[in-house]
Amino acid sequence: MEKHIAVIKGDGIGPEIIDQAQKVLTRIAEQYGHTFSFEEVLAGGCAIDACGTCLPDKTLKTCLNSDSVLLGAVGGPKWDHLPGSERPEKALLGLRKALGLYANIRPAVLFPQLADASPLKPSITANGIDFVVVRELTGGVYFGAHQTTSENGEAVASDLMIYSEHEIERIAHVAFQTARKRRHHVTSVDKANVLDTSRLWRKVVERVAEQYPDVTLSHMYVDNAAMQICKNPAQFDVILTENMFGDILSDEASMITGTIGTIGSSSLGSGTRGMYEPIHGSAPDIAGQDKANPIGTILSAAMMLRFSFDMPSEADAIERAVSAVLDEGFRTGDMMDAHTVLISCSEMGDRIAAAI
Ligand code: NAI
Ligand code: MG
Repeated sequence: MEKHIAVIKGDGIGPEIIDQAQKVLTRIAEQYGHTFSFEEVLAGGCAIDACGTCLPDKTLKTCLNSDSVLLGAVGGPKWDHLPGSERPEKALLGLRKALGLYANIRPAVLFPQLADASPLKPSITANGIDFVVVRELTGGVYFGAHQTTSENGEAVASDLMIYSEHEIERIAHVAFQTARKRRHHVTSVDKANVLDTSRLWRKVVERVAEQYPDVTLSHMYVDNAAMQICKNPAQFDVILTENMFGDILSDEASMITGTIGTIGSSSLGSGTRGMYEPIHGSAPDIAGQDKANPIGTILSAAMMLRFSFDMPSEADAIERAVSAVLDEGFRTGDMMDAHTVLISCSEMGDRIAAAI
């Protein structure tokens, strides 16, 4: 197959980690007879420096014409003085909006080789952690009307939580379809004992569930879900939830796996094109030192093959290669323990590519 990939390296460690993912994708192309063409475009702080805007038109156009987007990370102290609306991170929102990406999928996987890095007790991690959070990305309280007014001399602020049936329906389909490729269980998380948006959420999710009789649906209140993720994470396969709950729960879920350096993510819309990126930021403290962990980006590339290009065997091959290199005891600094061997970002990329 021939695929055109828009590559946004971004700032900080972005270029280093993206280079490793491209190395691995190039190896996959050779082994499986595909052609991947990479078109590099600017976004974030480097785009502000070069073009005066964090998201140049050319970048948007290239992404819209691509089969998928692979992104490193954007931002850094150099641009911290800019007002919110002009900061590098604005590029992410602009890309999500322009590409119509309403579903964010974040796996929480504990590699058995890294179990010591989890803050959870061994008796809990012994049952394994392998679930994904499917988070609605373009609705809810983050996108409802925000305002601050004054009443009787006192400031009063409000943010509107708003969802339509259509918005809930399309994200529910993503969750059920994801569950079909996994262990066939969706846990829909809401606050239906208090919120109207959650009661609508539950009703629509139950309606969508009728189309997936092979998938089991259960409901959980968000406060209980926060507890269950650290008490018994093995119970989860796919967690489906709205934007703000998903923001918080997916960060909690990534912490129980030990390091943010190994986790990838995908953002999907109604077509097959997605945007794939590690969950961490540009890590300015270690940028340019060939120290960063490239695994989150490499696994994001694997997600791209699985979700956007329908190449499950190729995605499996990348995941197996990552696991094989960890088995051999090789680690970047963020994953080190007493029994492992410290290697650089680029050596990690070389080793994973070679293990495919
Ligand atoms: P960060 O995720 O960049 O770094 C937090 C800590 O984790 C640092 O100590 C860093 O060295 C470490 N770390 C992160 N990724 C790592 C990796 N792959 N390997 C080894 N260690 C890693 O978060 P921080 O410091 O809050 O933000 C730095 C900049 O990144 C800010 O400008 C922020 O706005 C931006 N950012 C961008 C994101 C994106 O592009 N999607 C997401 C989060 C933050
Ligand atoms: Mg967050």
